[in-house]
Amino acid sequence: MKIGFIGYGSMGSMIINGLLESQALKEGNVIISNRNLGKLTKLNLRYPLIEITDDNRVVAKKADRIFIFVNTDSVKKVVEELSSHGSSNMHIIHIAAGLTMSTLALIFEGKVTRVIPSLTSLSRRGISLINHNELVEENEKKFVEDLFGIISQVKIIDEGDFEAATTITSSGPAFISFIMARYAHMATLYSGISPEEAQDMVKNVLDGTSKLLCQGHRFEEIVERVATKGGITQEGIDIIDSKLEDMFQELFKKIGAKNEEIKLKLESDYRS
Ligand SMILES: NC(=O)c1ccc[n+]([C@@H]2O[C@H](COP(=O)([O-])OP(=O)(O)OC[C@H]3O[C@@H](n4cnc5c(N)ncnc54)[C@H](OP(=O)(O)O)[C@@H]3O)[C@@H](O)[C@H]2O)c1
Repeated sequence: MKIGFIGYGSMGSMIINGLLESQALKEGNVIISNRNLGKLTKLNLRYPLIEITDDNRVVAKKADRIFIFVNTDSVKKVVEELSSHGSSNMHIIHIAAGLTMSTLALIFEGKVTRVIPSLTSLSRRGISLINHNELVEENEKKFVEDLFGIISQVKIIDEGDFEAATTITSSGPAFISFIMARYAHMATLYSGISPEEAQDMVKNVLDGTSKLLCQGHRFEEIVERVATKGGITQEGIDIIDSKLEDMFQELFKKIGAKNEEIKLKLESDYRS
């Protein structure tokens, strides 16, 4: 049996290329399907032994471990195609935000793993959140966790904690980049520093700070060592401290409400 992948967009191409480049996947064992086959021809030039198709039913027939990387709206149709053409032993691994185990179980009663990847896997860093349903066997869990372990750190997590964890691990790169871009921009308004110089400085600060954190220094320790009491940095910390809690409270509340809306919509779509 081959290993099947459906959907070669932003996330699919990042994960598939990461796994092929690391040689975790043997190209002859891989079949990939995408609605627009043209996207796969370039990959096929680089890896000629990969089988490509625009017909998901072919993937269902040739693979029983199938990764679904299509956009959330298309998952239902893809799962229906797979379950009517695949084996009863099929293991589906999907990355669709908001698609819970109980909703997917309305149309597919087999083995399911939910993964929330992160764009940071482009640099083989960051966290992939993983949750398996009760039908997934130990060797199948290990297979998925080992693959995502190559392009990220794997964190097994209860489904109930998926949303808050997703906000940190998957939305995080966007939040951090947005805040840092604003930070750099503001510095240009109060100086002669160009936007490029300011962004370059911020990038280096982020790099250095993240290395300190990875070496075991705690967030609080870094704050304490830079922001000496009564000093200049402490003025900035006081401002941030007075605004940040409200902002993050609102952020988690709004994201929670949006997640609920998506979950309910998916549940109603999957019931119909
Ligand atoms: N972006 C993130 O950071 C992130 C993080 C975590 C999870 N996710 C989840 O990842 C999923 C994919 O997101 P994305 O950003 O990669 O989307 P994307 O860039 O739009 O890619 C989706 C891909 O799926 C293909 N596709 C759609 N319907 C198909 C079908 N019926 N059969 C075969 N292929 C089909 C599309 O083909 P075409 O070439 O024809 O359009 C496209 O290549 C979403 O469910 C999202 O919630 C995203």
